[in-house]
Amino acid sequence: MRFSVSQGSLTEASCDALIVNLFQDVKHPGGGTGAVDRALGGAITQLIADEGFEGKLGQTAALQTYGRIPATKVILVGLGKAEEFTTDGVRRASAAAAKRAADANAKKVSTILHGAGIGGLDPGECTLALVEGAALGLYKFLKYKTVDRKETSVEEVEIVEMDASKLEAIRAGAAKGEITSDATIFARDLVNDPSNSATPTMLAETARKIAEENGLECSVLDREQIAESGMNLLLAVAQGSAQPPKFIVLRYSSPGASRTVAIVGKGITFDSGGLSLKPADGMENMKDDMSGSAAVLAAMRAITKIAPPVNVLGIAPATENMPGGGAVKPGDVIRSLNGKTVEINNTDAEGRLVLADALAYAVKEGADEIIDVATLTGACVVALGRGMSGIMSNNDELADRLIAIGEKEGDPLWRLPLFKDYKEMLISEVADLKNAPGREAGAIAGGMFLHEFVEDKPWAHIDIAGPSFLDKATLTAPKGGTAAGTRILVRYLMEMP
Ligand code: BES
Ligand code: MN
Ligand code: ZN
Repeated sequence: MRFSVSQGSLTEASCDALIVNLFQDVKHPGGGTGAVDRALGGAITQLIADEGFEGKLGQTAALQTYGRIPATKVILVGLGKAEEFTTDGVRRASAAAAKRAADANAKKVSTILHGAGIGGLDPGECTLALVEGAALGLYKFLKYKTVDRKETSVEEVEIVEMDASKLEAIRAGAAKGEITSDATIFARDLVNDPSNSATPTMLAETARKIAEENGLECSVLDREQIAESGMNLLLAVAQGSAQPPKFIVLRYSSPGASRTVAIVGKGITFDSGGLSLKPADGMENMKDDMSGSAAVLAAMRAITKIAPPVNVLGIAPATENMPGGGAVKPGDVIRSLNGKTVEINNTDAEGRLVLADALAYAVKEGADEIIDVATLTGACVVALGRGMSGIMSNNDELADRLIAIGEKEGDPLWRLPLFKDYKEMLISEVADLKNAPGREAGAIAGGMFLHEFVEDKPWAHIDIAGPSFLDKATLTAPKGGTAAGTRILVRYLMEMP
């Protein structure tokens, strides 16, 4: 899908579908929508009055233009209440309108820039959200569909703006939105790809290709090299699986930079639970347990376009979690890369094990700041649901920046505490730590376990277990992998001071 920006009037845009908008309960549209309404002889005003179009966020209606303007059809999308409107409203409205355009088989779509007329909303930020909404709302995973392959008809989305003073910001926003959308789509494709295809080896090959295409350094440690380097927790998780594990590292060097940011993603390509086996119901969704590493790979794939003023280390510890004959057993004690010993009292708490070694690796490699993204705990899904991810951090400034970005990106984060009093839950009878305390404060316990491996580095842990995979479509994502966390990483690196 291509995006373009043109200066001009909506009533002169030639396209298959022209998207205009309406705030809730507005009876007489103004602005660009008003101009289109007048050109159509009041057809939009009539639709509002006669058909009861209320303008609820994401509500759509389609009108024929009968040659009164160059556009073949007009699609009206509701923006919801004006006083509640945010740039995420732009994203959702754009997604709803794009879908309606695709339903009408439109190839070329021209659109008004939603929200640009609202005080306080930045036109660049609105454009970025509009681009994301259209690109992500139309996303489908068709790799394995041989029949009923309904590809989206939309080939081009043209943003039409009259006000010349806004064009520069709009163009910059569109360019950023294409980067964040491409990254999200790339990550969704990886998450939706099942575990027989998206193996640790496949993730490693994907990383190598990303490195080649973008001039990054890539190193991939195999089972032996993982053992030699002392990442025994990763090794322990991998030992029940026939698929060989891979420890994947991508490096971006920024000219003249001295600081290094590490982004670390959980890369469990299938989580059966291991010997602490999960119930069969819904286990198929555990192909999504590499969503964190998909976000990291996607961000590294975009990194030369982002060109942040820091070095970036992308790390993905990748393995299956399987109950094979050689599998790690509950009660086994393993020494981690940073020397702490861990009793694996539950093999289904494998994410924190592979991440512990990866975080310790990032510290060893000289990372000045670390962000990890992981489908870590079912407890986080219970606490926060599917609509937001949990964030835990030892650094308020880092946490606040990530939370602000999550809000802008429609990928919200809610902070949970690293509560010192709970540290004792993590203490094992036989080792320094155990990986799975009881059922209480499960998301926090996961974060606090990881905290043991970051020394004093500014660090944030994002638990995307809820939003990473949906069994019900939203406006901006179909059922399945959403690539939660991806846009947060990309935007974080884009906005790096
Ligand atoms: N990958 C799961 C967490 C998960 C659950 C992600 C549901 C998405 C949806 C993780 O490895 C896991 O199994 N965690 C355990 C930890 C427990 C044993 C301490 C959990 O949450 O039950
Ligand atoms: Mn698990
Ligand atoms: Zn897992």
